[in-house]
Parts: sequence; C-alpha cells; structure tokens
Amino acid sequence: MASKKIIIDCDPGQDDAIMLLLALASPDEFDILGITTVAGNVPLHLTERNTRIMCEIAGRPDVPIYAGHDRPMRRKLITAENVHGKTGIDGIDIYQPTIRLQPQHAVDFMVECLMGAQDDSVTLVPTGPLTNIAATIIKEPAILPRIREIVLMGGAMREGGNTTPCAEFNIYVDPDAAQIVMHCGRPLTIAPLDVTHQALVSRARLQQFRELDSPVGDAVVGLLEFFNRFDSEKYDSAGAPLHDPCTIAYLLSPGLFKGKRCNVEVETQSELTMGHTAVDFWQVTDRPCNARWLYEVDADGFFDLLIQRLCRYG
Ligand code: BDR
Ligand code: CA
Repeated sequence: MASKKIIIDCDPGQDDAIMLLLALASPDEFDILGITTVAGNVPLHLTERNTRIMCEIAGRPDVPIYAGHDRPMRRKLITAENVHGKTGIDGIDIYQPTIRLQPQHAVDFMVECLMGAQDDSVTLVPTGPLTNIAATIIKEPAILPRIREIVLMGGAMREGGNTTPCAEFNIYVDPDAAQIVMHCGRPLTIAPLDVTHQALVSRARLQQFRELDSPVGDAVVGLLEFFNRFDSEKYDSAGAPLHDPCTIAYLLSPGLFKGKRCNVEVETQSELTMGHTAVDFWQVTDRPCNARWLYEVDADGFFDLLIQRLCRYG
C-alpha cells in the first residue's frame, strides 16, 4: 500500500488517543503531515496537551501538533468529562510532555499545507467536532481540490444519539461546522455510531491488550479500563465502543467495513433534534449522495488489526 498523506484533527479522548497510537504505528501507510486539535471531549488546552502526551508515548516527536479552535462556530462548547474524565484521557498518568506545540494555528497550518499540496493528495481524518475543518474550508476554499478524501467519525442513524436522543457527540457539539463539511463536495466517508457500536472492547479483547505487556500496551489498558466503565454502565454493553480508531482502521483496511453511498444532512435549526444526521439510506429523496455511510464492521478483524499494530511498539 502506497503511503497516504494525512492530517488528523482530534480531541483526545481515550478513543482518539488509541486512534493516534494506531496511526502513529503505521509509518509505511501514513505520512502524517500534522495533527491538529480542537475543543470537544475536553477544552482545547487539554486536547492539545493530550495529543502531545500520546505522541510522546508513541515515541513520535517528529509529528507536528497544532492547536485550533477552542469553541464551536456558533454554539457554546459542550464537553464530555462524564465519559472521558477530567483530563480527557483518565486512566493513564498525566504529565507535562516535552514535545512542544507548534506556534501556528491549526487552521493556518491546514491552509498552508493544503495549498502547497497537489490536487487529490491529502486525506483529512477528523475524530472530534468539525470546527477546525469547516473553518479551514471557509478561510480558503481553494484547498478543496487538494483534499483526496475526508474520513470522519460522527453521526448516527440506526443507533440513535449518544448525546441527545437524536445526535451523536461530535456532530452535536458543532452542527454548523458538520453541515459545511457534509457539503464540501469532496469524497466523504463517515464512521457513525452505527458502526462504532459494533467495535466493543469486551473483556476478552481487553485481555489481549494486557498481553501486549509493553509500555504502550499498559497505557492502552489504562485508557480502556477507564473508558469501559462509562459505556458498560450506561448501555449495559459488553464494553466501550472504540469509535475513533474506526477511521484509521478504515484507511488501513477498508475491506473490514461495509458502507453505502447516500445523502447525509445535519440538523442545525431545531433545538429538539439539533445535530441529528438525516441519512437518506434508502434513497427516498432525490438529494444527491454526498457521503459513504459505514454501517458494518468485522469487529474481530478490526481488533486483530489494532493489536497487530500496537505490537509494533515493543
Ligand atoms: C465521539 O465523541 C467522543 O466522545 C469520542 O471521542 C468520539 O469521537 C463518539 O460519539
Ligand atoms: Ca473524538
């Protein structure tokens, strides 16, 4: 597989943290041009610090990290400490990382980086609210042809919402940004709750992470033990869904997923259904397809891939 140029935009979050470890363990497949951070699961000063911690744990000080927007485009920031803990990555030791934050704003970095790239050459991987991505599109629409694809985690259809009855967290936090991204005109693949709720960290899978018996393995176990607590209690499920790593797993091994091209719109007006992703899965309207909506994952294959990549950290 030829190396893909990617920019990751995230808000760690335990599942973002594991997504980063998966991406950083795949240098043959990914040329990570930068990691940008956004306010979401926790405020921006924590998401950028958490990203630096994860790059340090992964032994990848070479990847530049940028801080972006500290609040959604129009709405008040909503965070998710109830899920992720006060730090966003509760479950591991928190310290001040030595990796420095880049001085450039994330949006300026993306504009500069994309404007210097060839057409169809850079894949964006957002796993938090879409504020930075929408702001980049607004600031410099000429970046659009340079984007090869956007592979994002967000939204829900069959699963219903995890933040309101109708809405998934990333889309709910900044629905205005999400709607801009849905209409950007570039190839879009969406990993919604419909698929991420199939990638559950069961006890048996947690045991496999324990058996990695390495500093990275220990960090993953710490993160997942904390993360599992919330979802197992709330949904009475076998374990927590590994939402964000689905994006990177899709890029590494698209055959693990089933998806369908359809129209996806985001509700930005109604307070009752704010952030809902209206997915025309059965094409009952003539609205044009703007995204590939993932709806099924080979969960065993997904966890095999993750374990196999995490083994690389030694
Ligand atoms: C999404 O919201 C956050 O809590 C997770 O990091 C993930 O990106 C799941 O709804
Ligand atoms: Ca996230």
